[in-house]
Amino acid sequence: MSDRHIEGIEGIEACVFDAYGTLLDFNSAVMQCRDEIGDSAERLSDIWRQKQLQYTWLRSLMGTHADFWQVTGEALDFALAAVDIDNPDLRARLMALYRELDTFAEVTETLTRLKAAGMRTAILSNGSPDMLNAAAAASGIDALLDAVLSVEDVGIYKPDPRVYQLAVDRLGVAKENICFMSSNGWDAAGAGAFGFRVVWVNRYAQPVEHLPAKPDVILDTLSSLPAVLGLTPA
Ligand code: LAC
Repeated sequence: MSDRHIEGIEGIEACVFDAYGTLLDFNSAVMQCRDEIGDSAERLSDIWRQKQLQYTWLRSLMGTHADFWQVTGEALDFALAAVDIDNPDLRARLMALYRELDTFAEVTETLTRLKAAGMRTAILSNGSPDMLNAAAAASGIDALLDAVLSVEDVGIYKPDPRVYQLAVDRLGVAKENICFMSSNGWDAAGAGAFGFRVVWVNRYAQPVEHLPAKPDVILDTLSSLPAVLGLTPA
């Protein structure tokens, strides 16, 4: 294991998770159609994700919010065009699969351990409530979450501070007592700039972002999160 900065974070009362890429494996949608898509599958998935995120930032800057379901569909349309696929049936299947993405291997066990230790848990995501609830129910992690919080309640995307404030307001926990987990370096930076304690789950082996806030801890997966928070093994 190559987890870095495992000094531990104290005083945490709630663990708040980004959804896509952190708990839910967004690549699993394209990978389930890999045989049909062929050689461009990986490129399709990469472009889909990159465009999806870019569109959230651009729409926030333009003041033209649309929910994440629409943005995800529009990003998929761009990605399919970029790899020269014109197949409405495949598009519909990929969107349906996005509502039931796989969780990463250690997610259920980690959430179970956090709950067993009395930690409060929540998702805080760009996803629309409908998408998030569908994915959480499909994977069964809904039973391990105290709240599923969506940017739709503030009508702007991460990393706007109003999004992170939602978790403080809904959970009733001070920001310094919330630990936020994201695999997205830019989201980790946004959460850190807001005032959360931050664990960057660097699943995709990315370099450190050159943005104002640095994560408190960098992990490869969520497996060591309970230990980082000083929770005794179940
Ligand atoms: C989310 C995106 C950023 O779940 O992954 O908010």
